[in-house]
Amino acid sequence: MKSIELDSVSKAYGNETVLLDFSLDIEPGERVVLLGPSGCGKTTILRLVAGFIKPDSGSVSLDGQVVSRDKRILVPPQHRKLGMVFQDLALWPHLSVRGNLEFGLRAKGISKNEREAKTQKTLELVGMGGYGHRKPDELSGGQQQRVALARALVLEPKVLLMDEPLSSLDLELNRRLRKELVRLQEKLEITLLYVTHDREEASHIATRTISMEKGRISSN
Ligand SMILES: Nc1ncnc2c1ncn2[C@@H]1O[C@H](COP(=O)(O)OP(=O)(O)OP(=O)(O)O)[C@@H](O)[C@H]1O
Ligand SMILES: [Mg+2]
Repeated sequence: MKSIELDSVSKAYGNETVLLDFSLDIEPGERVVLLGPSGCGKTTILRLVAGFIKPDSGSVSLDGQVVSRDKRILVPPQHRKLGMVFQDLALWPHLSVRGNLEFGLRAKGISKNEREAKTQKTLELVGMGGYGHRKPDELSGGQQQRVALARALVLEPKVLLMDEPLSSLDLELNRRLRKELVRLQEKLEITLLYVTHDREEASHIATRTISMEKGRISSN
């Protein structure tokens, strides 16, 4: 479990200010959902936490350690120990589903037997147990979304960043997976930062919902 803190973060693209003095404190084990209209800055916040972009000013901390400050990345993304499921899933196209899940496990030096067991168990969890041999482009959009979720979960991260990971699923699958997500988050003691624009989904996942308007937290 890790805390996440953004302290007076500002971020602009060209002359468009996306975030202005934005602060957010997330306690270990919380499930915080960012809710807000398209373009209000939700993905930008996740990118800042992940370390893909740097703040113009202000700082980002994980577990009390400053990882980005002002215009500098102090800890690069690969060392932040985060799980991520982003809008553009970024599955490896040349690897099978199983290969996509095993990739990160192999990098962690986990043995073949354990890799296979964890991979299969996690695929079953998201209802993809029979699809391990397929390539991503042989799956539907919703199936790819489940594989992306499984790929993040299989590494048992302490912080999980999710950007509308269930948005292309039908309601029944959305309900099932969000329940599983909450169950796993509690079991693995993950700190979750989750983005959606669906108020109903947010209400089922969040221990705290943050409603945003353009670049700032709205009053409700
Ligand atoms: N790399 C970039 N270059 C220029 N502008 C950008 C870039 N990334 C995002 N923006 C702009 O910043 C604003 C916030 O974008 P962001 O992706 O954070 O929105 P969002 O809340 O995630 O929206 P959505 O719900 O549509 O995903 C938008 O106006 C967007 O056009
Ligand atoms: Mg977005």
